[in-house]
Amino acid sequence: MKKIISVVGARPNYMKVAPIHRAFQNYSDKVQHLICHTGQHYDANMSDIFFRELELPQPDFYLGVGSGTHAEQTAKIMIEFEKVLMKERPDLVIVVGDVNSTIACSLVAVKLGINVAHVEAGLRSFDRTMPEEINRLLTDQIADYLFVTEKSGIENLKNEGIADEKIFFVGNTMIDSLVYYLPKIEKSTILHELNLKSKEYIVVTLHRPSNVDDPENLVKIFDEFKKIAEKYKIVFPIHPRTRRTLQSSKIDYEHSNILLIEPVGYISFINLVKNSLIVLTDSGGIQEETTYLKIPCLTLRKNTERPITAEVGTNKLIGTEYHRIAEECFDTINNPPKNSQIPPLWDGRAAERITAKVVELLN
Ligand code: UD1
Ligand code: UDP
Repeated sequence: MKKIISVVGARPNYMKVAPIHRAFQNYSDKVQHLICHTGQHYDANMSDIFFRELELPQPDFYLGVGSGTHAEQTAKIMIEFEKVLMKERPDLVIVVGDVNSTIACSLVAVKLGINVAHVEAGLRSFDRTMPEEINRLLTDQIADYLFVTEKSGIENLKNEGIADEKIFFVGNTMIDSLVYYLPKIEKSTILHELNLKSKEYIVVTLHRPSNVDDPENLVKIFDEFKKIAEKYKIVFPIHPRTRRTLQSSKIDYEHSNILLIEPVGYISFINLVKNSLIVLTDSGGIQEETTYLKIPCLTLRKNTERPITAEVGTNKLIGTEYHRIAEECFDTINNPPKNSQIPPLWDGRAAERITAKVVELLN
């Protein structure tokens, strides 16, 4: 029996690991699949709700590291995860995405001689001011198996000198969760609860430090939101990082058509996206989900590590010239993207491919 530990830490990790956990159940005679939650995210609406909705079991290991500076958080995760690995000695550690938990756990594992698989490898924004870009670059350099979601990832890894035999193009486990839960998502009552009507509102999420840490940016962003709110309702589930800036500054964000709510669970959130006119975001994962759902997405960033979403999908990068937000938004609502496509292998079966390959590699 092979022992595998998958790591989750922050909100975007749960929907990537859930389908992998489910797919490993088909190999229960060969693989014991365990889950370690670092506790990078810990609020109930940033953690527990996703375990429930995505039918993940309680984590086998909970490191409880919480928030801190990058060094504090990364170091705490490393210290606690090393204890788990020294005791458990798994055959493989699986990390996903690009958060601090991803690099911290990869580093600990490889130094103990334990193989690492990185799911969502090879994505690059080419912007090293993003903490995630550093996490991605370093994780891919030390991981043994690299599972890639889109073709840019293969090219990036090859350009960085990663051997072909380590790279596997498997598709997108985040889309696996979306496909699997669509029937449940359709039944969500969130529109009714928020008094919203399908295709009459806009969804916003923002949490990148470059957009939300400086209150001056948020002032400019909310000025634009108020212009939009003269015509359309905006629903904005606020990430804790963004809430922190809003609460500590005197930004005037009140408007009767801007609905500021706490972060919502996955099922409600995707239902909100699916019924929206357009999404405005700086999230990584949401660029992919809107592409799959063919909902127009404006990304408030200068770059994306997920270029396929802009090449074939519904995503448009609008940069950080905040004064253009309302105009871009109205333009896109009036001329929504046509003929967008779903990227190759975003078919709901990435986790099946990953687990089959992992079982083959471990045997
Ligand atoms: C992290 C990831 C980012 C990812 C995002 C997803 C890193 C470097 N960043 O950013 O890549 O896109 O998660 O949401 O790993 N906080 C709470 N409650 C929580 C969690 C956080 O209040 O449950 C607050 C704390 O004040 C904390 C701040 O949010 O200091 C930031 O949390 P942190 O995990 O450091 O980074 P995120 O901005 O959430
Ligand atoms: N999400 C959610 N509730 C919210 C906002 C986002 O369930 O209130 C989901 C979203 O559908 C996606 C994931 O969280 O699956 C993305 O996480 P986030 O934007 O925090 O991180 P990123 O992808 O930018 O790293």
